[in-house]
Amino acid sequence: MNGQSREKESRLCEADDCLKEFAEEVAAGLSLTPKQLPCKYLYDAEGSRLFQAIMELEEYYPTRCETEILNRHKEDISTIVGKAEFNLVELGAGDGAKTKILLRHFLDLGLSFRYVPIDISPSAVQGLTCDLRKEFKGLAIQGLATDYFEGLRHLARLDRRSSFVLFLGSNIGNFTPGESLIFLSSLRTSLRTGDYILVGFDLKKDLNTLLRAYNDPKGVTARFNTNILRRINDELGGNFVPSQFEYFSTYNPRAGAIESFLISLRRQNVLVEQCGRSFSFSKWEPIHTESSYKFRKEDFGRMARRQGFRAVASFCDSRRYFTDTLWQAVPFRGSGPQDQCV
Ligand code: TRP
Repeated sequence: MNGQSREKESRLCEADDCLKEFAEEVAAGLSLTPKQLPCKYLYDAEGSRLFQAIMELEEYYPTRCETEILNRHKEDISTIVGKAEFNLVELGAGDGAKTKILLRHFLDLGLSFRYVPIDISPSAVQGLTCDLRKEFKGLAIQGLATDYFEGLRHLARLDRRSSFVLFLGSNIGNFTPGESLIFLSSLRTSLRTGDYILVGFDLKKDLNTLLRAYNDPKGVTARFNTNILRRINDELGGNFVPSQFEYFSTYNPRAGAIESFLISLRRQNVLVEQCGRSFSFSKWEPIHTESSYKFRKEDFGRMARRQGFRAVASFCDSRRYFTDTLWQAVPFRGSGPQDQCV
């Protein structure tokens, strides 16, 4: 086998492994009561495209809030993080629309950095890399298509430059509270003392505003969720009929999260060939597709201190809907001053 075909072969094996893992996670999730599907599988090429359409919706406020925050505070951010050469690593980069605000500003200031966007969707990483190479001549960029945890292993293996990690949008809100602590402590372990992270937290707010953001009248959010069934059909040989499931999303005040579901409109059996079995649904049975936790400032101040970070600054939008908070990695068990919303 020559080098090229060996490389192709190993990529195919990798793809096989991904498919196997996808089949295993679908089988495990659909065997639970209540049924669930891991939300990372929402983001294939079509899912990423639909999520971009969500971000453009009037009702989906997080994107506009964060755009305002980054425009207003790019100077504060660059003053704090831009003193030495660094890797700007973004977890869940998507189309990078908001990140461009920072990229442009950092390049204008002549800061020395390399951009490392990481996203689960290969098409998103490829599209973003091409797009940025055209838009920002001279930007050093090295994209990677993988999940967060592999992304963190990659981060730990990067060169000796310092890291500035972006974890924007409401990505952290998609973890359960327990998962987010595990994630933050793995992130801390992948960093060196003195590195910075900028994390997005969607704040608790008026319930109608929250509900409208996840129930747009054009049905884009419903299509984004139902896309996971189409994906199971295409990639795992499933026979879901997407129109026999209805999207439903609501706020659970006890959990402090928007919870999204696909609800079976009738009693049905669905075969998924790659899982080697079928799954039975009763009428009105839900599949939980995602939780999107909402926070209070006190919640994430505590999270920072517990996980080996010092909250340096918190930046809010003018409506106080959303916060991007800047943390610095400190020696473990260290504590810092209370953060203040500016
Ligand atoms: N991570 C995004 C969020 O929590 C994704 C998202 C937007 C989403 N709308 C959704 C996920 C509706 C499931 C259902 O905001």
